Amino acid sequence: MKSLSLLLASAASVQAQLFLDNLPAPVEDLAPLPTLFKRNTYQEPCQEVSASWAAAAPKATAAVAVPADVAYKCLQSVPVDKDGDLKQIQELKQMLQFQSTLSYLKQGLKDDIEPVDLMASLDEMTKKLNEGGFKSEYDFQVGIKYLFSSTGDFHLRWNSDILEPLIFGRLGGELTLLSKDGVAFPEIYLVSDIYARKFGNISESEISPIKTINGQEATSYLQNISTGAKYHNPDARYNYIFRNQATVGAKVSSSSPWLVGGLYDGPSTELEFNNGTKTTLQNLASIPTSFDFTGVIDGKSFFEVFCTGVSSTIRSTSRAIASATKLSTATVTKRDVSSSSTSSSTLAKANSTATATRSSATATSTSTLSLLNYPKPEFASDSLTFSGYYLSDTGYDDVAVLAIPDFAPKVGQDKTAGINQAQKLLRAFFAETIEKKKNRLLIDLRGNGGGTIDMGFELFKQLFPTVEPYGGTRYRAHDAMKILSAQLAAIDANATMKALNKDIYEKAEYSEFVWGNIVNENYTAFKSFDDYYGPYTIDNDTFTAIRRYNFSNHVGGHTYSSLFNLTGYAPQPTPAQPFKAENILVMQDGLCGSTCAVFAELMREQAKVHSIFVGGRPQAGPAQGVGGSKGAQVLTMDTIKYYMDAALNVTLGFYGAEAANYMNRTAVGAISHTTQLIKRSAHHTSETINGGVNTLNNYRKGDKTNTPLQFIYEAADCRIFSTYADFGSPVLLWKRAVEAKWGDGKCAEGSQGDKTAISVVDGKAFNKQPESLPKKVETSSNAAEANAKVSGMMVAMVVAVMAATLL
Ligand SMILES: *[C@@H]1O[C@H](CO)[C@@H](O)[C@H](O)[C@H]1NC(C)=O
Ligand SMILES: *[C@@H]1O[C@H](CO)[C@@H](O)[C@H](O)[C@H]1NC(C)=O
Ligand SMILES: *[C@@H]1O[C@H](CO)[C@@H](O)[C@H](O)[C@H]1NC(C)=O
Ligand SMILES: *[C@@H]1O[C@H](CO)[C@@H](O)[C@H](O)[C@H]1NC(C)=O
Ligand SMILES: *[C@@H]1O[C@H](CO)[C@@H](O)[C@H](O)[C@H]1NC(C)=O
Ligand SMILES: *[C@@H]1O[C@H](CO)[C@@H](O)[C@H](O)[C@H]1NC(C)=O
Ligand SMILES: *[C@@H]1O[C@H](CO)[C@@H](O)[C@H](O)[C@H]1NC(C)=O
Ligand SMILES: *[C@@H]1O[C@H](CO)[C@@H](O)[C@H](O)[C@H]1NC(C)=O
Ligand SMILES: *[C@@H]1O[C@H](CO)[C@@H](O)[C@H](O)[C@H]1NC(C)=O
Ligand SMILES: *[C@@H]1O[C@H](CO)[C@@H](O)[C@H](O)[C@H]1NC(C)=O
Ligand SMILES: *[C@@H]1O[C@H](CO)[C@@H](O)[C@H](O)[C@H]1NC(C)=O
Repeated sequence: MKSLSLLLASAASVQAQLFLDNLPAPVEDLAPLPTLFKRNTYQEPCQEVSASWAAAAPKATAAVAVPADVAYKCLQSVPVDKDGDLKQIQELKQMLQFQSTLSYLKQGLKDDIEPVDLMASLDEMTKKLNEGGFKSEYDFQVGIKYLFSSTGDFHLRWNSDILEPLIFGRLGGELTLLSKDGVAFPEIYLVSDIYARKFGNISESEISPIKTINGQEATSYLQNISTGAKYHNPDARYNYIFRNQATVGAKVSSSSPWLVGGLYDGPSTELEFNNGTKTTLQNLASIPTSFDFTGVIDGKSFFEVFCTGVSSTIRSTSRAIASATKLSTATVTKRDVSSSSTSSSTLAKANSTATATRSSATATSTSTLSLLNYPKPEFASDSLTFSGYYLSDTGYDDVAVLAIPDFAPKVGQDKTAGINQAQKLLRAFFAETIEKKKNRLLIDLRGNGGGTIDMGFELFKQLFPTVEPYGGTRYRAHDAMKILSAQLAAIDANATMKALNKDIYEKAEYSEFVWGNIVNENYTAFKSFDDYYGPYTIDNDTFTAIRRYNFSNHVGGHTYSSLFNLTGYAPQPTPAQPFKAENILVMQDGLCGSTCAVFAELMREQAKVHSIFVGGRPQAGPAQGVGGSKGAQVLTMDTIKYYMDAALNVTLGFYGAEAANYMNRTAVGAISHTTQLIKRSAHHTSETINGGVNTLNNYRKGDKTNTPLQFIYEAADCRIFSTYADFGSPVLLWKRAVEAKWGDGKCAEGSQGDKTAISVVDGKAFNKQPESLPKKVETSSNAAEANAKVSGMMVAMVVAVMAATLL
């Protein structure tokens, strides 16, 4: 660290600062590895971890690190909690009733999602528990983690306490992918080497790409470990391994987590470079500052201290988070930890209105904000997740760029103020692009894992003010969903009930579960509860009807409240369309999901805007821009439990003990009684249950097959790669994208002309290259077609609102 700052003394101070800000977490942040403790003096690996912690913790300012293999052996010595784990599986199965993709996951998607039957897999784990098949509690919980990861749906998550105290990582191993010219297949470099070359006056010949990792060809090694990343596409998973310029730039993430999921990957990492040099990275496990190993002497005591409920574990949650993110090697990622909420519960929304009034958008104060290693922006939102630029130089000076690595802008911690601010900033920017005759727009969505659902619709409406966004979705129909939907509808329809239970009524009034608050596929009102709820049988499962938000109101789950009004709907004006669709290009890297996926779908299907992919595996062929969850809503397990509690309460209040007692024996009661998930959740968020499920499937307008978008492959129109020159600024990458679309630039081999690319579907060539035309050879990737089957939609049994449910 010190010698590097000296090295930089001669460089421009701004560059030096950027360099320093971007260094992988310094080794000095870690307490030194204890050397005085010899493993063989300990009977138990957890005793060694504990002693190492005790020796280092008093003087440590950040996480304490211990050798990865010792930590792993300690975790492996924690005995299986058979009874608790059996209960945990039962509770997870109840929560998973709300997961909207259960039946589709069983089929999977060719080349993208391996088929997985979540319920049957959990049943197998039950069997294995009963047969004593798990070696340790750690193996059981990692099994759950891998099972959920295998869906590729980052909305689906449950994190166990046992994964918290020891987080695996590698020191100094951050990686980047660089191509020689932007279309040649990229090679793998250490980020620290690239920084040394860029800012440290080290020549190109002195650094070399990585050839093998632990003796295996580097690309295949990384591809194999990337299978644990929660994306439903292999190029997205591969990109996830590497440093992401966009999210690091906006400080959405601090480094690339190439130990996917923070799980163990051996005691050390052997790298061999093309030039023949070999080096060994030390693999470590870090202990966040809030974890106190006092009393941990073996696997059994580890369990008692860390796995028996929140009070046993956490000294300070905020310190835990701060220290976990300080380590580049700590791999608790944003998506693993947070709910990636596209539309949080109506409860949270109603709640947030109270705080939202305090701060309003202050576009004026933002001019000094800028992103790390980005040029000075024309504007930037407070949280840096929205910023705008103009390209200069002949041939580019009519190009505007929006960099949006996240759809959840905030002012302070306030998301409602954040979307109001972004709305105003975007409006001002687009007005200026019209005035300054900027005719073309590049929207850089690299790294964008979603955010506030309204923000996706808002950006679309500002770009295409006269287009009615589709956004058709369905819930999975099942017992608990039916009771919840019917009961909230009943309250909403009954003045006496409203008056008697104001609290619940407020939720019903705004609820996404009340059919009167939303509209049908044709943007007209549902006729009745049954018209909305169905259930409709599609592909071996049951669903509600297609439902859309009514953007003219503030209910149904799409807005925080009247404190945000979408552009293009009263009382907001309908602005002029700032760009022609053919003059817009969307840039993605596969990490796009959630709100980003919803936005991408509107741009692709309703505006026919083309897209370009950056990065991916070093192989010829197309790549998919949206590799994250394409679901349109995640509900936290806390929210689901809250609604089940409320349903029981309301039933008791209005229908009496007998009815409540009955309901207590249904799925509602089962979820309401959740205890094991609470006890065994990782506690490093504000959530009581550290989990969530994807509740809404998103559908393509006019798709007769009714296939959730997650199970439809859609190639980008072109693919390019990052180069050494792009490292430190995105401008050259942006220019190459502009060249590929509108100039003489090329796309990577085989990346154009896939029959699922919108340019091909719409019959408008992406660029001037002959490759832009549809390929003659059929690709196997058109899942929409492969999946195409006549919809089995039928109106099933008609269920009277509350009464039938309770009989
Ligand atoms: C970089 O190294 C070259 C050759 O070793 C030297 O001529 C040059 O002055 C150095 N530049 C800086 C900024 O240190
Ligand atoms: C080979 O490449 C590695 C990685 O960039 C570098 O650290 C090392 O110094 C190089 N070795 C030689 C002999 O140039
Ligand atoms: C792939 O990774 C898994 C662990 O994630 C490991 O068990 C397996 O051996 C790896 N396979 C290869 C071919 O390296
Ligand atoms: C509502 O907001 C208050 C204050 O910000 C917070 O303490 C509380 O947890 C929130 N409740 C919900 C349900 O979001
Ligand atoms: C409204 O709810 C009250 C309280 O449960 C009930 O007595 C009344 O019959 C309901 N009214 C209608 C129109 O359903
Ligand atoms: C929507 O309109 C189409 C075309 O008129 C019709 O076939 C379909 O049944 C309508 N859907 C609903 C839910 O009314
Ligand atoms: C949508 O909401 C507006 C405002 O509340 C309302 O006037 C309109 O009737 C709603 N549309 C439908 C189809 O329900
Ligand atoms: C529906 O279930 C049947 C029988 O299990 C199976 O053969 C078929 O592939 C399933 N279809 C879909 C679309 O899931
Ligand atoms: C949204 O519109 C309503 C009127 O429909 C208005 O009362 C409210 O102040 C508006 N909110 C904002 C943030 O402009
Ligand atoms: C249910 O009722 C109990 C007792 O009145 C109350 O403590 C609890 O907050 C209620 N829960 C909900 C979700 O309304
Ligand atoms: C539901 O059952 C649980 C025990 O299983 C009990 O504690 C609770 O009071 C019951 N609630 C109602 C509303 O009957």
